[in-house]
Amino acid sequence: MSKFTFRYGIDAPFWVFFSLGLGLVVSAASIFGLPQSILGLLFGLFSLLQGLWMFAYSTIIKIRHRQVILDLAGLERGSRVLDVGTGRGLLAIAAAKRGCQVIAIDKWSAKDLSGNGKEALEKNRRAEQAPPIEVMDGDVTSMPYEDRSFDAVVSNFVIHNIKSKEERGKAVEQMWWVLKPKGTLVISDIARIEEYTAILEGKETIGEVEVRKVHYTYPFSRIVVARKKF
Ligand SMILES: C[S@@+](CC[C@H](N)C(=O)[O-])C[C@H]1O[C@@H](n2cnc3c(N)ncnc32)[C@H](O)[C@@H]1O
Repeated sequence: MSKFTFRYGIDAPFWVFFSLGLGLVVSAASIFGLPQSILGLLFGLFSLLQGLWMFAYSTIIKIRHRQVILDLAGLERGSRVLDVGTGRGLLAIAAAKRGCQVIAIDKWSAKDLSGNGKEALEKNRRAEQAPPIEVMDGDVTSMPYEDRSFDAVVSNFVIHNIKSKEERGKAVEQMWWVLKPKGTLVISDIARIEEYTAILEGKETIGEVEVRKVHYTYPFSRIVVARKKF
């Protein structure tokens, strides 16, 4: 696959285009308007930079980011993997290409990801010549899976989209519940990481928990890797 692609959609498309538009307008007004303003120009350039970085994340950087997440999940051929909030299949398709048996679930919110939907995932899967993936409509706070049914549960930039703390807690609880003993949960997100780790560290079944900082995404993000002891 080429290094630049729209295949996996633009994350938070409103904010990307708002930052780019605001940056352009304010920069131009600061350069050509009267009176000219250095502060306005700096603000405009900052907004433009944010928009460009978010755009680059969606079209270039996330193709690399997915491999980092899957490496941390310690996948093996045949591992049963759940991709929560799969969107257009970023993690699910890469896991299937590694020989895993993949199930992907999402509620397909268009404001979280441009062109979001099962059809887009299936089109991407075929384009990447990945094996079949079981795709389900559903909400991460009430998933229909048995407890201890996945070797790995992975999620990228999903849980912060849930508005209430209680519902985010339910999402983390559910992801832990469906994980097998010795399984690995990997949550990559741009916010609320302390909330997720606090829940996981309170579990009797928790093994190691590690948090990694990521500075190549915008906004910066962190990845929680939690292993289930039993
Ligand atoms: C920013 S997109 C990320 C998609 C994909 N993980 C990726 O990295 O390309 C966030 C995804 O989370 C999904 N999502 C948000 N809240 C959800 C929920 N409560 N249950 C299931 N999916 C959810 C959205 O529909 C969207 O597909």
